[in-house]
Amino acid sequence: MPRIVIQNLGNLSIDSERTDRKVIELIHENGTDWMHACGKKGRCTTCKMIVVKGLENLSPETEVELIYRRQHRLRTNERLSCQTQLLEGELIIRVAEINKFPHLAYTE
Ligand code: FES
Repeated sequence: MPRIVIQNLGNLSIDSERTDRKVIELIHENGTDWMHACGKKGRCTTCKMIVVKGLENLSPETEVELIYRRQHRLRTNERLSCQTQLLEGELIIRVAEINKFPHLAYTE
């Protein structure tokens, strides 16, 4: 079963067989807050996830992600969680320092 692990949220683990759902939706449905300033419309980069492991398990990059990448607003190990589906296997991610919430206890 596909699994999302948020490394700097105490290795919070989210299992889901919903490969049709975006990663941010699975995180939110788990009751975990994740920044999404534009409402998951691909118009900001606040929902970005830093991918530690599992890039190959993700859906192909969308046009908006490619635009942000060309603008150097997304690094090669970063994806927008509102644009990306986890198709299989494990995805280990981190919340970027700039996108951390003050009300959540990050582990690093
Ligand atoms: S929430 Fe704005 S790009 Fe994903």
